[in-house]
Amino acid sequence: MKWHKLKVTQDITRPFIIKEKVGGKNLCIVSFESKLYAVAATCPHAGADLSEGLCVRKLIVCPYHRYTYDLETGKGGEGQNDFIETYPIEIRDDGVYIGVNSVWDKLKNGLK
Ligand code: FES
Repeated sequence: MKWHKLKVTQDITRPFIIKEKVGGKNLCIVSFESKLYAVAATCPHAGADLSEGLCVRKLIVCPYHRYTYDLETGKGGEGQNDFIETYPIEIRDDGVYIGVNSVWDKLKNGLK
């Protein structure tokens, strides 16, 4: 896993959703109830940009058809049978970092 430093200029104690390209992936960086989350920015249902959605009860809500995804697990709402990727976030002394697995990392982890 490679850790990427984010250029977050927002106050992370306030709610926001921003879209950032990190490690070649489009991610939503979400601040909700003073906690940061990183999830895939593309909705698996029909490709909407989740950064244009909203957050309700630790769920990100897609702006197109209102599908929901858990910010911690990426699991889709009941009956959706889908999910979005989630990414670990670390707040370090020098900034905010997001961990992104490469395809090679995923293959190695899949063999364990
Ligand atoms: S595109 Fe996201 S719910 Fe349909």
